Amino acid sequence: MNIPTLSQAETYLSEAQALNPGPWVQHSIWAARAAQAIAAHHPDIDPAAAYILGLLHDIGRRVGVTGMRHTLDGYRFLQSQGFEDAARSCLTHSFPIKDVAFITGKWDGSAAELRFVEDYLTRIEYTVYDRLIQLADTVALPSGFCLIEQRFVDVTLRYGFNVHTLQKWRAFLDLRQEFEAAIHCSIYAVLPGVVENTFGELRGNVE
Ligand SMILES: [Fe+2]
Repeated sequence: MNIPTLSQAETYLSEAQALNPGPWVQHSIWAARAAQAIAAHHPDIDPAAAYILGLLHDIGRRVGVTGMRHTLDGYRFLQSQGFEDAARSCLTHSFPIKDVAFITGKWDGSAAELRFVEDYLTRIEYTVYDRLIQLADTVALPSGFCLIEQRFVDVTLRYGFNVHTLQKWRAFLDLRQEFEAAIHCSIYAVLPGVVENTFGELRGNVE
């Protein structure tokens, strides 16, 4: 695969953190850990490559505080560095359904950029790595692993509900099932701390 080494990826992430510090950096690290942990039980995925892709999936945030255009900014950045396979998961990770109509919130790039994303998604078929990073992104909070359903509520509280929301939720749940069939167990069984992280606040309240 045409991706950076781990140390190059870590350098990209720390440069990006200096440019635009925020919880997205810790989220990226947890997404990398999720990708690696699931990959370790999957017959067709290299865990080390999965970790690097997870680490870099939101690297488009290096340009500043943006919305969905971070997908395209990340793609462009890693393309410019010569890493096509890492670039593509920047773009694909936010599209469990291969259609720009399913963008969460408003597109904050130009119309021409949106057309580029649309064309790109139409031209490619998702690989198991694309699908893995979509899943890893959904179970990674800045503080650790979480239930997919917790993430649904979090995103919907921030962006609202629209005609595509239910279809998108189903796509993510299908994604989880697809990987659980491949690893022969619940994804949560391989994500340590998910219970503590999901219910930590609640536990804190009652103690
Ligand atoms: Fe992400």
